[in-house]
Amino acid sequence: MLEMQNEDKVYGNIAYACTTLQCERGLGNKTAMRWIDAHGGKTDFTFNDLDRESNRFANALDSLGVTKGDIFFTFLPKTPEQFFAFLGILKAQVICGTLFSNFGEEALLDRLGDSGAAGIVTRKGLFKKIMRIRGKLPKLKYIILIDGDGEPERGVFGYKDLTAAARDEYEVQPTTADTPSVLQYTSGSTGKPKGVLHCHGSLQGQMGTARDVLGLRHDDIYWCTADQGWITGTSYGIIGPWSLGITQIHYGGGFDAQAWVDLLAREHVTVWYSAPTALRMLMRSDETIFTSADLSELRSIHSVGEPLNPEVIAWSRRVMNRDIYDTWFQTETGAIMICNRPGMEIFPGSMGKPATGIEPAIVADDGTILKDGEQGNLCIKIGWPSMFSTYLNNESAYASKFKNGYYYTGDTARRDANGYYWFMGRSDDVINTAGHLISPFEIESALLEIDEIAESGVIGAPDELLYEKVVAFVHLHEGVVPTKDLELKIRLHVSNKASSIATPQEIIFCDGIPKNKSGKIMRRVLRARYSGADIGDTSTLEI
Ligand code: WT7
Repeated sequence: MLEMQNEDKVYGNIAYACTTLQCERGLGNKTAMRWIDAHGGKTDFTFNDLDRESNRFANALDSLGVTKGDIFFTFLPKTPEQFFAFLGILKAQVICGTLFSNFGEEALLDRLGDSGAAGIVTRKGLFKKIMRIRGKLPKLKYIILIDGDGEPERGVFGYKDLTAAARDEYEVQPTTADTPSVLQYTSGSTGKPKGVLHCHGSLQGQMGTARDVLGLRHDDIYWCTADQGWITGTSYGIIGPWSLGITQIHYGGGFDAQAWVDLLAREHVTVWYSAPTALRMLMRSDETIFTSADLSELRSIHSVGEPLNPEVIAWSRRVMNRDIYDTWFQTETGAIMICNRPGMEIFPGSMGKPATGIEPAIVADDGTILKDGEQGNLCIKIGWPSMFSTYLNNESAYASKFKNGYYYTGDTARRDANGYYWFMGRSDDVINTAGHLISPFEIESALLEIDEIAESGVIGAPDELLYEKVVAFVHLHEGVVPTKDLELKIRLHVSNKASSIATPQEIIFCDGIPKNKSGKIMRRVLRARYSGADIGDTSTLEI
């Protein structure tokens, strides 16, 4: 009996469920991942391969002395090793944090420093970013290079050496639903990014929605375009599909309309999960790319991360003869909460209806539950399986998200009489550019490091392609003249410190930044100034 219980707990381990369990189900020789590199070269990895490679990585971690509860990050573009490492880390019950490969030094330092990360898996090209901040990260003991040799005396290890020496069998220890699993940082409008911590129990939510919302079936070929730095890339680019034994395409190349459509057709993709910015980029390309491609096997297209505008659905209906199913969720929710899904009538512009077991509500600032048609805070009744367990080292921020049994998402929305939810906006100043949440505070801090800049204020402004673009209002020190060179310097600095995605698309030089009496930047005023709208009540303004 006791043995049974332990076995149940092993099944509760996300990485076990995604690999060993699939082999036990008889899918060992099934392709788990078709890896397509940037030049179109293909390598297939079976569930057996995935199991063995992740076992090797888990054994390598054990041999280094990394233990349960330690934090290990991946800092990689899409590469097969990223998937092996992610699963190996979770098998060892080490917490896996994922980082975008375009992160700059400051963004890395915030995340690695706050989490007290024990190690990081990266590659030579990104290594120098880590070395520049390593002196400030005393807890970072292990740097594993997927394409480099080790220098163990410096704490640098070669992935190939480590895994070649490791056994390809691994005994996963009993893993409970509340064992921490995945860590991703999310940006708010003030303060440093917050580490959203998930647990192995989130598997139920990710697996359930991959089956019920994305509609994945055993013979599907599924392609999720999201980067693994993002919750979509882990929940729906790793955990959900592999826990169902589904074959996934992973593509290491960048965006290219022709290459993407070719991939969809040639690989017979049946279910495709992408994002509005990518879809809008496709929409701008030559229509014959789509009309001449054989996409007959593509059963459903899903989207996430930003509002899916009705024009994109109209385009998809016209050019691909298909709907696009919008889905809404957050790093914090871990899995899809509101969605359109195959079989449901779509109202273009609406995010759809709650996923199974999810109970959203539209709530006024005073806590009153609002009626259909009224706009308010989008909240979700607590208790879904993939709910985050905390913001790492920030219990008070975590506690502030919950009131009267509801989780406050930070978005505003309304529900119509048919029960469909419509996204209205965010209730904070966070910028959503191409699906990435960017903190204006992080960019303002980076801008202030530039000698010529006295103060700055950063906002998101509407953009046809990216949904929002980053606009920086910059007040220069007296006597400094704005030039093209200075603009370039500003862009480069933000890109190096924060990330290339956070780099301002527009820089507006101005004579002062509006602030309230306590010195808080009035971004509302900057937004109005940008759009030429009425500035509204400025009674608390200093200038
Ligand atoms: C925020 C969450 C979704 C996982 C990846 C991003 C916005 C997300 C939609 C959508 C309108 C959306 C919200 C949300 N968002 N999906 N379908 N329609 N807005 O996770 O970085 O935590 O961002 O992205 O504002 O709160 P995230």
